[in-house]
Amino acid sequence: MSTNSFVFDASIEGHFQTQWQAPSNIALIKYWGKHGQQLPQNPSISFTLSQCVTTTKVSFSPREELNDKHFEFLFDQKKQSEFYPKIQLFMDRIMPYFPALEGHSLSISSQNSFPHSSGIASSASAMAAMALCIVDFERQFHSDWSMEASFQKASFLARLGSGSAARSISGPLMVWGQSDVFPQSNDHFAIAPSEEWHHIFHDYQDTVLIVDKGQKRVSSTVGHKLMQGHPFATQRIEQANTHLKQLKNALTSGDLELFIYLTEAEALSLHAMMMTSSPSFVLMQPNTLAILQKVWDYRAQTGLPLCFTLDAGANVHLLYPLKDRTPILDFIQKELVFHCQQGQYIEDQVGNGAKKI
Ligand code: DP6
Repeated sequence: MSTNSFVFDASIEGHFQTQWQAPSNIALIKYWGKHGQQLPQNPSISFTLSQCVTTTKVSFSPREELNDKHFEFLFDQKKQSEFYPKIQLFMDRIMPYFPALEGHSLSISSQNSFPHSSGIASSASAMAAMALCIVDFERQFHSDWSMEASFQKASFLARLGSGSAARSISGPLMVWGQSDVFPQSNDHFAIAPSEEWHHIFHDYQDTVLIVDKGQKRVSSTVGHKLMQGHPFATQRIEQANTHLKQLKNALTSGDLELFIYLTEAEALSLHAMMMTSSPSFVLMQPNTLAILQKVWDYRAQTGLPLCFTLDAGANVHLLYPLKDRTPILDFIQKELVFHCQQGQYIEDQVGNGAKKI
């Protein structure tokens, strides 16, 4: 696919203000390993969440002098310089696709619905919200643009900020990365496939157990790099593709046994890749393992379809159908919260994507 269709190089100038809310997402088939400019090694699929969101307001105004500050960024109403390098990199990467941005200064103000220090990856929702605001500015100059076209560009730009952010645009399930299993899928932006997902997944629950609120010892960006030359890279890419095909069947048929098997296999493969890269690293913690063991025991004892997935960190996402919420939440509170840092957990569920505020 040529990326030229994403270039908008009209010379425009104006004042504009907009605000968007973008959700976090949790991958079922994991994106791990990238090449070129933020292109994935394998296709991934995620549930869009509904409670964990970033809300971002951007004001655009013509820049008087090119050496003026290009953007200022407030997080929770405060200047937070630690975010600047990531935003600067994002701006540098998106500029060729919207060069008129260079002539504007952006005042960005952002906040999360979840605690920033919860160890929950916020870059997906943050980059998606920012991309949606920028695309909304561009949208004024495209009278012919459908919502679908602007969401595609938002996903494309969000990806340049953080790969998983490409999936934080729409919902309830998003596919990013080319796969024969989803004919519209591609490496440049994520799509919401038109499949009829089984109704059990429309309001699937995700309870996030906060095992460690701290900064990760190895960032995702470094982890992705370690997939280059990884001894199991070829097998991992093959596995992700096979898993995606099987998971599509589980998601359309409602086969929870298959869903659970694939979701947990993906989480463990992701962490196995970390443990077998060079240098190797481990992001799970003793409490992570204790939770996984208890989830397996609980499932064996009760037959209830509770399963886990993991991000690139120690926290555990517990996935289960809404109809089983009462006994499962009871189990979480009695047996698992004890393993969380300061007993912290977040209740979330599958959602339908970003919205303009
Ligand atoms: C383990 O999207 O955070 O969460 O593209 O370098 O910003 P960058 O990486 P990022 O990687 C997320 C990886 C993952 C799996 C996933 O979300 O698919």
